[in-house]
Amino acid sequence: MKSNELILILDFGGQYNQLIARRVRECNVYSEVVPFNITLEKIKEKNPKGIIFTGGPASVYGENSPKCADGIFELGIPVLGICYGMQLMSHTLGGKVTSASTREYGETNVNIDNSSPLFQGFGDKNIFLMSHTDYVESVPDGFKRIGYTSVCPNAAMANDEKKLFGIQFHPEVNNSVNGTQVIKNFLYNICNCSGDWKMSSFVEESIKNLKEKIGDKKALCALSGGVDSSVAAVLLSKAIGKNLTCIFVDHGLLRKNEGDEVEKIFTQNYDLNFIRVNAKDRFLEKLAGITDPEKKRKIIGEEFIRVFEEEAKKIGTVDFLVQGTIYPDVIESGLGKSAVIKSHHNVGGLPDYVDFKEIVEPLRNLFKDEVRKTGLELGIPENLVYRQPFPGPGLAIRIIGDITNEKLDILKDADSIFREEIANAGLHKNINQYFAVLTNLKSVGVMGDERTYDYTVALRAVETTDFMTGVWSKIPYEILEKVSSRIVNEVKHVNRVVYDITSKPPATIEWE
Ligand code: XMP
Repeated sequence: MKSNELILILDFGGQYNQLIARRVRECNVYSEVVPFNITLEKIKEKNPKGIIFTGGPASVYGENSPKCADGIFELGIPVLGICYGMQLMSHTLGGKVTSASTREYGETNVNIDNSSPLFQGFGDKNIFLMSHTDYVESVPDGFKRIGYTSVCPNAAMANDEKKLFGIQFHPEVNNSVNGTQVIKNFLYNICNCSGDWKMSSFVEESIKNLKEKIGDKKALCALSGGVDSSVAAVLLSKAIGKNLTCIFVDHGLLRKNEGDEVEKIFTQNYDLNFIRVNAKDRFLEKLAGITDPEKKRKIIGEEFIRVFEEEAKKIGTVDFLVQGTIYPDVIESGLGKSAVIKSHHNVGGLPDYVDFKEIVEPLRNLFKDEVRKTGLELGIPENLVYRQPFPGPGLAIRIIGDITNEKLDILKDADSIFREEIANAGLHKNINQYFAVLTNLKSVGVMGDERTYDYTVALRAVETTDFMTGVWSKIPYEILEKVSSRIVNEVKHVNRVVYDITSKPPATIEWE
């Protein structure tokens, strides 16, 4: 699968680091994020065409501030330092870094030297996002300034001969006009990349490599119906066909008709062994009377593994267990960040007692959007490829309080109406996650001449890129009105619909 061209991104702890890697890949060059203290030997081994230093919260003068390996600037490999990365480059090579009395923040007009290969094709001014307190007061010997702002004397610097470049601004964010072009210029003008990283070649090579690796041995995959496990399964099936068995544990907490849809896609379109386990009763039994969200998660996680194991035992020893791990999971666990607000267990997580010899993770190097592109390349239907994120514990954490069959049916129907109307209005592409919640609240209503005492459904819709923060979506009133009226008319036991207008933070996306 390896592309011949690699850009190494040294992570100094900045918040936009994953974005840098994505931008590089959008320019058709493969990139990997590695810890800032990667050794010189390891870098040589990886043989990158270029190196990018990310930004980070530290100051080069701080105690224990992150440093790169000695000798990195003498390898002859082009380096682009962004923000802290530029300051570190300057500090290491003898320039002067100073702390300003105030932070320069926001979209800023940067005067640039467009004779530099980094700014080729630009005018002499460009808007970039600045976000820094420290700055480079004087550039190291051999460097020249190629950009400045009204307050930052060296917003960009270059040593053309050694192919070392520093920029104080963040080209990776959308607020930087032509930001991606700066990265592209670095890749193509300075690192001489040719841009051979394409999803079609990824698919072809992955299938070839999986064939070689697995041969005629057997693999087992836990299919959740989500994008990652589906794409992993299809990739494997193209490589090894019937030697792949997929187990789909239907816990009965999926959205309306979803279990059947997953079954249909995988049994009709692909050459693999598909086992669906209808385990709704088992799950509901275990969940009876449970109201605490974390307990629900734990029970579902454990029961899922138990069901999966039982099925796997029937198959016996397999050689490979397929995991749908994707690159952000690898970066996050590998580089040790993340705060736990909810225990997001992922259905499809690693079972303890399944008898297998090796794990295979075909999507380990892909970002989510690349996984989707791979899915499309593989012919997976668009509605599955662009499926909005759906939590492993499913509707269990969208029913506040205890879970019953009746509540599940109410929620499935209400949620399906909401999704249908959002799609009809063409809003599904703009809203990143939207769903109905069955609150545990009953209130008085009137229908015809009858008094009712029924449930309140809450609608939730958020716009977000990373799901860590998000804003509530400003769905037009007419659409909300239609959804509300359809839900109270079509779904029994619902007499009130409310719309959640809190952003994240302080609320989370899910209600539990
Ligand atoms: P919150 O509710 O924390 O959700 O704002 C952020 C994203 O994570 C999803 N989510 C989960 N995913 N298991 C999962 O696999 C879980 O237990 C879980 N809880 C929340 C949520 O749908 C949103 O996309």
